[in-house]
Amino acid sequence: MLVDVSEVSTRATVLGAELEMPILVAPVAFQSIAHGDGEAAMARAAAAAGTVFCLSSLTSIRPGEVADAAPGGRRWMQVYIFRDRGVTRALVDEAAESGYEALLLTVDAPYAGRRERDLRSEFQVPAEIRAPAIEGAVGHRSLSTAEVFELVDPSITWEDLDRLCNEFELPILVKGLITGEDAALAVEHGAAGVVVSNHGGRQLDNAPATIDALPEVVEAVDGRIPVLLDGGVRRGSDVAVALAIGAQAVLVGRPALWGLAVDGEAGVRRALEMLADELRLALALLGAPEPSALNAEHVRPRRRRLP
Ligand SMILES: Cc1cc2nc3c(=O)[nH]c(=O)nc-3n(C[C@H](O)[C@H](O)[C@H](O)COP(=O)(O)O)c2cc1C
Repeated sequence: MLVDVSEVSTRATVLGAELEMPILVAPVAFQSIAHGDGEAAMARAAAAAGTVFCLSSLTSIRPGEVADAAPGGRRWMQVYIFRDRGVTRALVDEAAESGYEALLLTVDAPYAGRRERDLRSEFQVPAEIRAPAIEGAVGHRSLSTAEVFELVDPSITWEDLDRLCNEFELPILVKGLITGEDAALAVEHGAAGVVVSNHGGRQLDNAPATIDALPEVVEAVDGRIPVLLDGGVRRGSDVAVALAIGAQAVLVGRPALWGLAVDGEAGVRRALEMLADELRLALALLGAPEPSALNAEHVRPRRRRLP
């Protein structure tokens, strides 16, 4: 209290990039299902908000088309290592040529989680939604989530990460770990960053909330590489808590997707604007004029309930 918060900025540097806010758009598959403008709208809205758009491997338009849709925007590419390594290589090459600045290697989905709502609704990626980046591998039929994941190679290990870091020119962030042990391995095997993530709770049932896993990851990484977090970030104050514990930035998946479903690009812009406004207010009320002013003193450990 009684800190000068007459000027509050949400600007932050994330993996060397100066962003308007430390809130990135997470990779989400097949965005054309939510809105006809899909990934192009999402990328434009992220660019307008001055943040990074992360494109899923399972994108419904080509990585190059996303770049053309939002030429001034910053973008990272999410990759799965497909059984057909040619598909992965082609995807990464197109990303590098189209100005993507980093790769997010998703490691928590060697198989698709058992998503019971998808099973009940018999969810399928509709036949008219294309997957051009992996088209050679999928063909043009409608696919179940499980069939999509059958393309992913479940045999990759930490040793492969060293090789991938050497093979790909772009820095690799490991997305989808929730323990200090795995975070330390990621550092050892050449990762440029980690994303504490449980895939939005869609993979391993009973996995902890990422915000509860964050302290041990921050401790294990010990400042050697940036730590990011996603999962359940719904308000600016959620962002502030993650940053105070030691995340450099957060990603949002569903909040951006819901914006897209409601009103295309304008809907995503609105969702990101709300998060930025809430973060600005949270910073002001915490006496932190900018994100980097947050530290562990701004949060307190959850108290155990009395017996
Ligand atoms: C519909 C949907 C599709 C997703 N597709 C991918 C994907 O293709 N690749 C990936 O790494 N993560 C994917 N994720 C996980 C997100 O990147 C992110 O980890 C998660 O959504 C964050 O949680 P939040 O939705 O609570 O913000 C997906 C999530 C959702 C909800």
